[in-house]
Amino acid sequence: MTGSPPDISSDARTLMARLDELGRVSTDPGRLNRQPYTAAHRQAIELVAGWMQAAGMATRVDAIGNLIGRYEGEDPAAPVVLIGSHLDTVVDAGRYDGALGVLAGVQVVAALHDGGERLPFPVEVVAFCDEEGVRFPTTFLGSKAICGTLDPGVLELPDGAGVTVGAALRAFGGDPDALASVAYPPGSLRAFLEVHIEQGPVLEAEDRPLGIVTAIQGQSRLAVVLDGMAGHAGTVPMGHRRDALAGAAEIALLVERRCSAAPDLVGTVGRLEVLPGAVNVIPGRAMLTLDIRSPSDLVRGQAVAELVQAIHGIAAARGLGCTVAREHDQPANVCAPRLQRVLAQAMRAEGVPVKYLPSGAGHDAMAMAAICPTAMLFVRCGGGISHNPLESMTLPDADLALRVLLRALRLLALPKAKP
Ligand code: GLV
Ligand code: MN
Ligand code: MN
Repeated sequence: MTGSPPDISSDARTLMARLDELGRVSTDPGRLNRQPYTAAHRQAIELVAGWMQAAGMATRVDAIGNLIGRYEGEDPAAPVVLIGSHLDTVVDAGRYDGALGVLAGVQVVAALHDGGERLPFPVEVVAFCDEEGVRFPTTFLGSKAICGTLDPGVLELPDGAGVTVGAALRAFGGDPDALASVAYPPGSLRAFLEVHIEQGPVLEAEDRPLGIVTAIQGQSRLAVVLDGMAGHAGTVPMGHRRDALAGAAEIALLVERRCSAAPDLVGTVGRLEVLPGAVNVIPGRAMLTLDIRSPSDLVRGQAVAELVQAIHGIAAARGLGCTVAREHDQPANVCAPRLQRVLAQAMRAEGVPVKYLPSGAGHDAMAMAAICPTAMLFVRCGGGISHNPLESMTLPDADLALRVLLRALRLLALPKAKP
């Protein structure tokens, strides 16, 4: 089925209006920037918690800063079906990445609540505190804490202003000493479902509103620091220079070349800082980040190892000091086949042809796979644009996503469904 469904539910209109409202909760005037443990994060939690409560959920904020709403099941002791995504954003973000998965969860629970309907199991909606990993050199703080896989060492990692995760969390009202209280006990989660905009062009190109994610590619993040010698741009002859930026430029081109050479590999140098950063000074220090991804952990691992070796080689040849820190390694994640089948059944029942596709972007579902079966429903986005204020999705697609998610929940409630 393509084109608009005949009638759009008021739930979908509410969802789109709330995405607009949440998209205005930002640290920066005029652009969306919502980093973990900021006043904007707090404001977003309060806004979403109010919507959760109106949908019949009991809410709490856990010790790492995740907001969780719970809609009780007929059997409160039954394993929970958890729905959600993240509240943090990149800098100058779109309003759908993350927020959609949280508010779609709130909306389907609101539909259950409005109809006086209880499922056999509790449904919880989670708004994770950190998925983008923009503020701190780490990511998945919230989802890893829920899985009990968060290394407490990350609490010592500083942001760009030197504030550590632990200090920021404490100032936010969280409790870095109580991470253990955040973890869900083994067996307490039946499934994790994440609705997310596709962030790529595939669904739009094929004129499909929704897709089921088969697997999420793995990712590594590295931080490289090159130290040369700052000097006078006019007096130091070219052959006498140790220019850190020239080394960084060579590294950026190396990443492009190496990652273009394999079909299943992408690599990005997304951040570059140069010191002292003056027009007439040879750069003395350059700091850059690498983001390397592949659906194959083997391909990614080999590429990262080769790149690290080659980066040291470039630095040595230029007489530059060099450190390479591995900040994040997340293996590729296959979504649970049984949950994929449930989503497929729900799509067919809603008249949406089934489409399967992999995810190039990272998602909280990757971390959640450590503790329970996971599934993701992708929603078509305009032009495949994401991590950009031009991110968009349509009201009819929002409507279909809500219908499919609600139907999937009800399918999970049938006695024979057991993912
Ligand atoms: C998050 O959006 C990521 O894929 O880096
Ligand atoms: Mn996201
Ligand atoms: Mn993102």
